[in-house]
Amino acid sequence: MKATVLVSGAAGYIGSVATEILLSEGYKIIVIDDLSTGHEKSLFDGVTFYKSTIGDSKTLKKIFSENKIDIVLHIAGAAIVSESVTNPLKYFDINFCQAQNMLDEMICFNVKKIVFSSTCAIYGIPKDSDIPIKEETETNPINPYGESKLLFENTLKWYKENHGIDFISLRYFNVAGATKKRGEKHNPETHLIPLILKAAHDKNYELMLFGNDYPTKDGTAIRDYIHVIDLNYAHLKAIETLLQNKSHNNFYNLGYGHGYSVLEIVNAAKEVLQKEINYKIGKRREGDAPVLIANATKIRTDLNWTPKHDNIYEIIKSASEFYKNFIGY
Ligand SMILES: NC(=O)c1ccc[n+]([C@@H]2O[C@H](COP(=O)([O-])OP(=O)(O)OC[C@H]3O[C@@H](n4cnc5c(N)ncnc54)[C@H](O)[C@@H]3O)[C@@H](O)[C@H]2O)c1
Repeated sequence: MKATVLVSGAAGYIGSVATEILLSEGYKIIVIDDLSTGHEKSLFDGVTFYKSTIGDSKTLKKIFSENKIDIVLHIAGAAIVSESVTNPLKYFDINFCQAQNMLDEMICFNVKKIVFSSTCAIYGIPKDSDIPIKEETETNPINPYGESKLLFENTLKWYKENHGIDFISLRYFNVAGATKKRGEKHNPETHLIPLILKAAHDKNYELMLFGNDYPTKDGTAIRDYIHVIDLNYAHLKAIETLLQNKSHNNFYNLGYGHGYSVLEIVNAAKEVLQKEINYKIGKRREGDAPVLIANATKIRTDLNWTPKHDNIYEIIKSASEFYKNFIGY
Protein backbone atom coordinates (compact mmCIF):
# COMPACT_ATOMS: atom_id res chain seq x y z
CA MET A 1 0.00 0.00 0.00
CA LYS A 2 1.27 3.44 -0.93
CA ALA A 3 0.66 6.59 1.13
CA THR A 4 -2.69 7.64 2.58
CA VAL A 5 -4.28 10.68 0.96
CA LEU A 6 -7.07 12.74 2.49
CA VAL A 7 -9.13 13.95 -0.49
CA SER A 8 -11.51 16.83 0.20
CA GLY A 9 -14.35 17.09 -2.31
CA ALA A 10 -14.06 13.50 -3.57
CA ALA A 11 -17.82 13.28 -4.24
CA GLY A 12 -17.57 16.01 -6.87
CA TYR A 13 -16.50 15.94 -10.52
CA ILE A 14 -12.74 16.35 -10.24
CA GLY A 15 -12.48 14.71 -6.81
CA SER A 16 -14.22 11.52 -7.94
CA VAL A 17 -11.84 11.13 -10.89
CA ALA A 18 -8.92 11.93 -8.57
CA THR A 19 -10.04 9.11 -6.29
CA GLU A 20 -10.44 6.70 -9.20
CA ILE A 21 -6.89 7.35 -10.41
CA LEU A 22 -5.26 7.38 -6.96
CA LEU A 23 -6.97 4.09 -6.03
CA SER A 24 -5.76 2.54 -9.29
CA GLU A 25 -2.22 3.63 -8.35
CA GLY A 26 -2.48 1.90 -4.94
CA TYR A 27 -3.04 4.89 -2.64
CA LYS A 28 -5.33 4.60 0.39
CA ILE A 29 -8.06 7.24 0.26
CA ILE A 30 -9.85 9.00 3.09
CA VAL A 31 -12.61 11.40 2.02
CA ILE A 32 -14.11 14.52 3.55
CA ASP A 33 -17.06 15.97 1.66
CA ASP A 34 -20.23 17.70 2.84
CA LEU A 35 -22.13 16.64 -0.31
CA SER A 36 -23.19 20.26 -0.88
CA THR A 37 -22.57 19.86 -4.62
CA GLY A 38 -21.19 16.33 -4.73
CA HIS A 39 -22.96 12.97 -4.89
CA GLU A 40 -22.56 10.12 -2.44
CA LYS A 41 -22.95 7.70 -5.36
CA SER A 42 -19.77 9.13 -6.90
CA LEU A 43 -17.66 7.84 -3.99
CA PHE A 44 -15.73 4.64 -4.68
CA ASP A 45 -15.90 1.45 -2.65
CA GLY A 46 -12.84 1.13 -0.48
CA VAL A 47 -12.62 4.77 0.62
CA THR A 48 -13.31 5.86 4.19
CA PHE A 49 -15.92 8.62 4.03
CA TYR A 50 -16.51 11.42 6.54
CA LYS A 51 -19.57 13.50 5.63
CA SER A 52 -18.61 16.93 6.87
CA THR A 53 -17.57 20.40 5.84
CA ILE A 54 -13.88 21.17 5.98
CA GLY A 55 -14.85 23.94 8.39
CA ASP A 56 -15.74 21.42 11.11
CA SER A 57 -12.71 21.07 13.39
CA LYS A 58 -14.28 18.25 15.40
CA THR A 59 -14.57 15.98 12.36
CA LEU A 60 -11.11 16.96 11.14
CA LYS A 61 -9.61 16.04 14.51
CA LYS A 62 -11.43 12.69 14.28
CA ILE A 63 -10.10 12.09 10.77
CA PHE A 64 -6.50 12.91 11.69
CA SER A 65 -6.68 10.83 14.88
CA GLU A 66 -8.27 7.79 13.25
CA ASN A 67 -6.06 7.75 10.14
CA LYS A 68 -2.38 8.31 9.51
CA ILE A 69 -2.71 10.89 6.72
CA ASP A 70 0.44 11.47 4.66
CA ILE A 71 -0.85 14.22 2.40
CA VAL A 72 -4.00 16.22 1.69
CA LEU A 73 -5.44 16.71 -1.80
CA HIS A 74 -7.65 19.72 -1.25
CA ILE A 75 -10.22 19.82 -4.05
CA ALA A 76 -13.39 20.82 -2.14
CA GLY A 77 -14.63 24.26 -2.90
CA ALA A 78 -17.42 26.46 -4.15
CA ALA A 79 -16.82 27.06 -7.83
CA ILE A 80 -19.62 28.94 -9.59
CA VAL A 81 -18.32 32.34 -10.67
CA SER A 82 -21.75 33.99 -11.04
CA GLU A 83 -22.86 32.78 -7.61
CA SER A 84 -19.67 34.19 -6.10
CA VAL A 85 -20.68 37.64 -7.36
CA THR A 86 -24.12 37.49 -5.73
CA ASN A 87 -22.98 35.64 -2.58
CA PRO A 88 -19.32 36.53 -2.00
CA LEU A 89 -19.30 35.63 1.70
CA LYS A 90 -20.10 32.00 0.87
CA TYR A 91 -16.98 31.91 -1.31
CA PHE A 92 -14.70 33.54 1.27
CA ASP A 93 -16.10 31.20 3.92
CA ILE A 94 -15.66 27.92 2.01
CA ASN A 95 -12.63 28.64 -0.16
CA PHE A 96 -10.67 30.63 2.38
CA CYS A 97 -11.87 30.43 6.05
CA GLN A 98 -12.83 26.74 6.05
CA ALA A 99 -9.73 25.83 4.06
CA GLN A 100 -7.56 27.68 6.57
CA ASN A 101 -9.30 25.78 9.36
CA MET A 102 -8.26 22.54 7.64
CA LEU A 103 -4.65 23.78 7.43
CA ASP A 104 -4.68 24.54 11.16
CA GLU A 105 -5.89 21.02 11.96
CA MET A 106 -3.26 19.56 9.64
CA ILE A 107 -0.56 21.39 11.59
CA CYS A 108 -1.96 20.15 14.93
CA PHE A 109 -1.57 16.59 13.66
CA ASN A 110 1.78 17.22 11.95
CA VAL A 111 0.40 16.66 8.43
CA LYS A 112 2.46 19.11 6.39
CA LYS A 113 1.89 18.33 2.72
CA ILE A 114 -0.98 19.60 0.59
CA VAL A 115 -1.92 19.79 -3.09
CA PHE A 116 -4.48 22.52 -3.78
CA SER A 117 -7.07 22.96 -6.57
CA SER A 118 -6.60 26.55 -7.69
CA THR A 119 -7.88 28.22 -10.81
CA CYS A 120 -6.96 30.48 -13.72
CA ALA A 121 -9.65 32.85 -12.34
CA ILE A 122 -6.90 34.30 -10.12
CA TYR A 123 -5.42 36.00 -13.21
CA GLY A 124 -8.60 37.97 -14.01
CA ILE A 125 -8.42 39.44 -17.52
CA PRO A 126 -4.79 39.22 -18.58
CA LYS A 127 -3.23 41.56 -21.13
CA ASP A 128 -2.98 40.22 -24.71
CA SER A 129 0.79 40.22 -24.32
CA ASP A 130 0.46 37.87 -21.31
CA ILE A 131 -1.21 35.07 -23.33
CA PRO A 132 -0.32 32.19 -22.93
CA ILE A 133 -0.34 32.90 -19.21
CA LYS A 134 2.77 32.13 -17.18
CA GLU A 135 2.72 31.55 -13.42
CA GLU A 136 4.55 34.87 -12.94
CA THR A 137 1.75 36.79 -14.71
CA GLU A 138 0.21 39.34 -12.40
CA THR A 139 -2.75 37.96 -10.44
CA ASN A 140 -5.74 40.25 -10.56
CA PRO A 141 -9.00 38.38 -9.85
CA ILE A 142 -12.19 40.13 -10.90
CA ASN A 143 -14.72 38.08 -8.93
CA PRO A 144 -14.97 36.72 -5.36
CA TYR A 145 -14.36 33.16 -6.61
CA GLY A 146 -10.92 34.04 -8.00
CA GLU A 147 -10.18 36.31 -5.06
CA SER A 148 -11.01 33.60 -2.49
CA LYS A 149 -8.75 31.07 -4.26
CA LEU A 150 -5.90 33.60 -4.43
CA LEU A 151 -6.31 34.37 -0.73
CA PHE A 152 -5.85 30.70 0.05
CA GLU A 153 -2.78 30.47 -2.22
CA ASN A 154 -1.26 33.39 -0.30
CA THR A 155 -2.19 31.73 2.99
CA LEU A 156 -0.32 28.62 1.86
CA LYS A 157 2.79 30.74 1.20
CA TRP A 158 2.72 32.10 4.77
CA TYR A 159 1.98 28.70 6.30
CA LYS A 160 4.99 27.35 4.45
CA GLU A 161 7.10 30.15 5.90
CA ASN A 162 5.75 29.90 9.45
CA HIS A 163 4.67 26.28 9.87
CA GLY A 164 6.74 24.36 7.33
CA ILE A 165 3.73 23.33 5.23
CA ASP A 166 4.92 22.08 1.84
CA PHE A 167 2.44 22.68 -0.95
CA ILE A 168 1.74 22.62 -4.67
CA SER A 169 -1.08 24.76 -5.99
CA LEU A 170 -2.37 23.67 -9.38
CA ARG A 171 -4.06 26.46 -11.32
CA TYR A 172 -6.57 24.60 -13.48
CA PHE A 173 -7.82 26.08 -16.73
CA ASN A 174 -11.09 24.60 -18.15
CA VAL A 175 -11.48 21.03 -16.97
CA ALA A 176 -13.61 18.78 -19.21
CA GLY A 177 -14.25 15.18 -20.25
CA ALA A 178 -14.82 12.04 -18.21
CA THR A 179 -13.54 8.57 -17.46
CA LYS A 180 -15.70 5.52 -18.13
CA LYS A 181 -16.85 5.67 -14.50
CA ARG A 182 -16.95 9.31 -13.41
CA GLY A 183 -17.73 12.68 -14.97
CA GLU A 184 -19.37 16.03 -14.57
CA LYS A 185 -22.73 16.24 -12.74
CA HIS A 186 -22.98 19.85 -11.54
CA ASN A 187 -26.31 21.32 -10.51
CA PRO A 188 -26.68 23.99 -11.71
CA GLU A 189 -24.41 23.21 -14.64
CA THR A 190 -22.49 26.20 -15.97
CA HIS A 191 -19.82 24.46 -18.06
CA LEU A 192 -19.97 24.58 -21.83
CA ILE A 193 -19.56 20.94 -22.86
CA PRO A 194 -22.27 19.48 -20.56
CA LEU A 195 -24.60 22.31 -21.66
CA ILE A 196 -23.92 21.46 -25.30
CA LEU A 197 -24.76 17.81 -24.57
CA LYS A 198 -28.02 18.95 -23.02
CA ALA A 199 -28.84 21.11 -26.06
CA ALA A 200 -28.08 18.21 -28.42
CA HIS A 201 -30.50 16.02 -26.50
CA ASP A 202 -33.30 18.48 -25.66
CA LYS A 203 -34.51 20.57 -28.59
CA ASN A 204 -36.43 22.82 -26.18
CA TYR A 205 -33.30 23.75 -24.26
CA GLU A 206 -31.82 26.96 -25.50
CA LEU A 207 -28.03 26.99 -25.34
CA MET A 208 -26.82 30.54 -24.80
CA LEU A 209 -23.37 31.56 -26.02
CA PHE A 210 -22.23 34.70 -24.25
CA GLY A 211 -20.75 37.23 -26.65
CA ASN A 212 -19.62 37.07 -30.27
CA ASP A 213 -17.86 40.41 -30.33
CA TYR A 214 -14.61 39.46 -28.64
CA PRO A 215 -11.37 40.23 -30.47
CA THR A 216 -10.94 36.56 -31.46
CA LYS A 217 -11.10 34.80 -34.86
CA ASP A 218 -14.88 34.13 -34.69
CA GLY A 219 -15.78 36.65 -31.96
CA THR A 220 -16.41 34.06 -29.21
CA ALA A 221 -14.23 33.59 -26.14
CA ILE A 222 -11.29 31.20 -26.23
CA ARG A 223 -10.46 28.76 -23.42
CA ASP A 224 -7.86 26.06 -22.76
CA TYR A 225 -9.77 22.78 -22.21
CA ILE A 226 -7.90 20.08 -20.31
CA HIS A 227 -9.05 16.45 -20.05
CA VAL A 228 -9.91 15.54 -16.45
CA ILE A 229 -7.70 12.43 -16.76
CA ASP A 230 -4.59 14.47 -17.65
CA LEU A 231 -5.46 16.89 -14.85
CA ASN A 232 -5.59 14.07 -12.36
CA TYR A 233 -2.26 12.63 -13.48
CA ALA A 234 -0.88 16.07 -12.63
CA HIS A 235 -2.29 15.62 -9.10
CA LEU A 236 -0.46 12.33 -8.97
CA LYS A 237 2.83 13.97 -10.04
CA ALA A 238 2.35 16.70 -7.44
CA ILE A 239 1.62 14.16 -4.69
CA GLU A 240 4.66 12.04 -5.61
CA THR A 241 6.88 15.14 -5.69
CA LEU A 242 5.79 16.26 -2.22
CA LEU A 243 5.98 12.77 -0.72
CA GLN A 244 9.50 12.30 -2.07
CA ASN A 245 10.55 15.76 -0.83
CA LYS A 246 11.74 16.63 -4.34
CA SER A 247 12.37 20.25 -5.19
CA HIS A 248 9.52 22.02 -6.96
CA ASN A 249 7.79 25.30 -7.52
CA ASN A 250 4.71 26.08 -5.46
CA PHE A 251 2.44 27.17 -8.33
CA TYR A 252 1.76 25.48 -11.63
CA ASN A 253 -0.63 26.32 -14.47
CA LEU A 254 -2.51 23.33 -15.76
CA GLY A 255 -3.75 23.42 -19.32
CA TYR A 256 -2.52 22.36 -22.77
CA GLY A 257 -1.17 25.71 -23.96
CA HIS A 258 -3.70 26.19 -26.75
CA GLY A 259 -7.36 27.06 -26.83
CA TYR A 260 -10.66 26.68 -28.65
CA SER A 261 -13.35 29.29 -29.16
CA VAL A 262 -16.86 28.61 -27.91
CA LEU A 263 -18.04 28.19 -31.51
CA GLU A 264 -15.22 25.78 -32.26
CA ILE A 265 -16.37 23.64 -29.32
CA VAL A 266 -19.96 23.70 -30.58
CA ASN A 267 -18.81 22.68 -34.07
CA ALA A 268 -16.53 19.93 -32.72
CA ALA A 269 -19.47 18.61 -30.66
CA LYS A 270 -21.71 18.57 -33.77
CA GLU A 271 -19.11 16.38 -35.49
CA VAL A 272 -18.67 14.04 -32.53
CA LEU A 273 -22.38 13.69 -31.77
CA GLN A 274 -23.57 13.87 -35.38
CA LYS A 275 -26.44 16.07 -34.18
CA GLU A 276 -27.58 19.62 -34.71
CA ILE A 277 -27.06 21.94 -31.78
CA ASN A 278 -29.28 25.00 -31.57
CA TYR A 279 -27.87 28.02 -29.83
CA LYS A 280 -28.47 31.69 -29.35
CA ILE A 281 -25.90 34.41 -29.03
CA GLY A 282 -26.34 36.56 -25.93
CA LYS A 283 -24.44 39.50 -24.55
CA ARG A 284 -20.97 39.09 -23.06
CA ARG A 285 -21.02 38.16 -19.38
CA GLU A 286 -19.39 40.72 -17.18
CA GLY A 287 -15.91 39.63 -16.20
CA ASP A 288 -15.40 37.02 -18.93
CA ALA A 289 -11.90 37.31 -20.37
CA PRO A 290 -11.63 37.10 -24.19
CA VAL A 291 -8.82 34.54 -24.08
CA LEU A 292 -7.47 32.30 -21.28
CA ILE A 293 -4.69 29.96 -22.33
CA ALA A 294 -2.09 28.43 -20.02
CA ASN A 295 1.61 28.38 -20.48
CA ALA A 296 2.10 25.03 -18.73
CA THR A 297 5.76 24.53 -19.58
CA LYS A 298 6.77 24.59 -15.93
CA ILE A 299 4.73 21.58 -14.82
CA ARG A 300 5.88 19.62 -17.86
CA THR A 301 9.55 20.23 -17.11
CA ASP A 302 9.57 20.34 -13.28
CA LEU A 303 7.13 17.52 -12.52
CA ASN A 304 7.57 15.60 -15.76
CA TRP A 305 3.84 15.83 -16.48
CA THR A 306 3.06 14.51 -19.95
CA PRO A 307 -0.56 14.85 -21.01
CA LYS A 308 -1.99 12.03 -23.15
CA HIS A 309 -5.50 13.25 -23.99
CA ASP A 310 -4.96 16.60 -25.67
CA ASN A 311 -7.70 16.09 -28.24
CA ILE A 312 -10.93 18.06 -28.10
CA TYR A 313 -12.86 15.35 -29.98
CA GLU A 314 -11.77 12.74 -27.43
CA ILE A 315 -12.72 15.08 -24.57
CA ILE A 316 -16.22 15.68 -25.95
CA LYS A 317 -16.69 11.98 -26.80
CA SER A 318 -15.74 10.92 -23.27
CA ALA A 319 -18.18 13.44 -21.75
CA SER A 320 -20.92 12.28 -24.12
CA GLU A 321 -20.37 8.61 -23.26
CA PHE A 322 -20.50 9.44 -19.55
CA TYR A 323 -23.77 11.31 -20.08
CA LYS A 324 -25.26 8.38 -22.02
CA ASN A 325 -24.34 5.89 -19.31
CA PHE A 326 -25.01 7.92 -16.18
CA ILE A 327 -27.41 10.76 -17.05
CA GLY A 328 -29.44 8.90 -19.66
CA TYR A 329 -28.78 10.87 -22.86
N1 LIG B 1 -14.27 22.20 -13.00
C1 LIG B 1 -13.40 23.09 -13.45
O1 LIG B 1 -13.30 23.37 -14.66
C2 LIG B 1 -12.48 23.80 -12.47
C3 LIG B 1 -11.60 24.78 -12.96
C4 LIG B 1 -10.75 25.41 -12.05
C5 LIG B 1 -10.74 25.06 -10.71
N2 LIG B 1 -11.62 24.12 -10.26
C6 LIG B 1 -11.62 23.80 -8.83
O2 LIG B 1 -11.66 22.40 -8.68
C7 LIG B 1 -12.41 22.06 -7.53
C8 LIG B 1 -13.43 20.98 -7.87
O3 LIG B 1 -14.28 21.42 -8.91
P1 LIG B 1 -15.47 20.48 -9.42
O4 LIG B 1 -15.81 20.95 -10.78
O5 LIG B 1 -15.11 19.07 -9.19
O6 LIG B 1 -16.63 20.91 -8.40
P2 LIG B 1 -17.76 20.00 -7.72
O7 LIG B 1 -18.78 20.96 -7.21
O8 LIG B 1 -18.19 18.91 -8.62
O9 LIG B 1 -16.98 19.36 -6.48
C9 LIG B 1 -16.73 20.03 -5.28
C10 LIG B 1 -16.88 19.03 -4.14
O10 LIG B 1 -16.53 19.67 -2.91
C11 LIG B 1 -17.56 19.42 -1.94
N3 LIG B 1 -17.58 20.57 -1.03
C12 LIG B 1 -17.91 21.84 -1.34
N4 LIG B 1 -17.77 22.63 -0.26
C13 LIG B 1 -17.34 21.83 0.76
C14 LIG B 1 -17.00 22.06 2.11
N5 LIG B 1 -17.09 23.27 2.66
N6 LIG B 1 -16.58 21.01 2.86
C15 LIG B 1 -16.50 19.76 2.32
N7 LIG B 1 -16.81 19.49 1.04
C16 LIG B 1 -17.22 20.51 0.26
C17 LIG B 1 -18.84 19.26 -2.74
O11 LIG B 1 -19.85 18.56 -2.07
C18 LIG B 1 -18.32 18.53 -3.97
O12 LIG B 1 -18.34 17.13 -3.78
C19 LIG B 1 -13.02 23.35 -6.98
O13 LIG B 1 -12.26 23.76 -5.86
C20 LIG B 1 -12.85 24.32 -8.12
O14 LIG B 1 -12.64 25.64 -7.66
C21 LIG B 1 -12.49 23.49 -11.11
